[in-house]
Amino acid sequence: MSTYAAITGWGKCLPPAVLSNQDLAGMLDTSDEWITSRTGIRERRIAHVTMAEMAHVAAERALACAALPGRDVELIVFGTCSFEDQVPNMASGLQQRIGAAGCAAMDLNTACTSFLYGLSAATSMIRNGVVKNALVIGAEIISPYMDWTDRNVAVLFGDGAAAVVLQASANEEGLLAEKLGCFGEAREILRIHGMGGAYANRGQLYGLTSWQFDGQEIFKRAVLGMSEASAAALARRGLTAADVQLAVPHQANLRIIEAVAKRAGIPMARVFTNVQRYGNMSSATVPVGLCEAVEEGRVEPGAWVLMPAFGGGLTWCAHLVRWGDRVTPLGTTDIDLPPCERSAVELIREVAARKTTPAPARA
Ligand code: UT7
Repeated sequence: MSTYAAITGWGKCLPPAVLSNQDLAGMLDTSDEWITSRTGIRERRIAHVTMAEMAHVAAERALACAALPGRDVELIVFGTCSFEDQVPNMASGLQQRIGAAGCAAMDLNTACTSFLYGLSAATSMIRNGVVKNALVIGAEIISPYMDWTDRNVAVLFGDGAAAVVLQASANEEGLLAEKLGCFGEAREILRIHGMGGAYANRGQLYGLTSWQFDGQEIFKRAVLGMSEASAAALARRGLTAADVQLAVPHQANLRIIEAVAKRAGIPMARVFTNVQRYGNMSSATVPVGLCEAVEEGRVEPGAWVLMPAFGGGLTWCAHLVRWGDRVTPLGTTDIDLPPCERSAVELIREVAARKTTPAPARA
């Protein structure tokens, strides 16, 4: 009998500080009108805590939703490109926080598609009997790596985290078809100079980043990759766009989402969007979107959900999930982030100051 990897828990964590288009217009040569008309984005969140804290809150909420004790988790796949640590990895820190002593713990970076690539990895391990369950995270803290003087990119991104719990099941549900790919020849259209070991000892102050970013080329490649992957994933199950109850695409730009929906033949009424409120949270966008879609009652029991995405690399993919019977959490938790005393603009100013003035050495 086949084993499947049912999605039994879902949880998100958005930092409370809101950075509006008006806030950005006060710092950069931009306007609410430009940002809204070109991207759909109206506001985004800025973290006052570490990514590890956001991921922990999201994970505990997903575990409560599945009624799975943290100590029983067998695998953590931590999808991110904004690592706070590379050695030790982020997943081992989360293992400690949720008390899953001894479980397998790995980080996975394919930029904005990291959560979905992680969903593929974890689902395969469950279906092959390597583990019985998994916690899959998409979390990003982009704000420290942002060049807050560059209007081309500063208006596009935000911070956030979300997680899902997968559990082995005899029911044919969870991730049932996907297509993964990458346009490696186009990898230089998105490069963050200063984010990674290659820049060490080359005269660049740690944390000082500049973005090499060809927005129009990314736009074209994103539409192409997501459309082709969506068609391929549907074909693998013999389905068409008419079978998709809801698409939850990567949220980078409303115009990209509209172009992909049009090519795929899915009306916008069956496409979930929250890019207006959060901007592009990289790997966190799809799991946050999935959580909110379920919370808002837009995912019905047994629904086919299509999740196309793209990211730096330029990676692309589409995942076709069959939702199970349950669309409500089994439990909840009181866990939350500590309150935030500062505004989003103040948080950004602190980030900018850290880029020119080295932080004091840690005790
Ligand atoms: O996960 C990967 C993340 N990357 C993406 O998702 C990027 C995908 N690309 C896009 O979303 C769009 O290409 C952008 C939103 C980045 C740009 O939209 P566009 O319609 O392709 O604009 P454009 O590149 O044609 O730029 C038009 C103008 C330029 O001025 P000039 O050269 O025509 O004088 C830019 O300098 O808009 C200018 N511009 C801005 N103006 C006001 C660029 N950013 C801004 C800004 N405010 N924030």
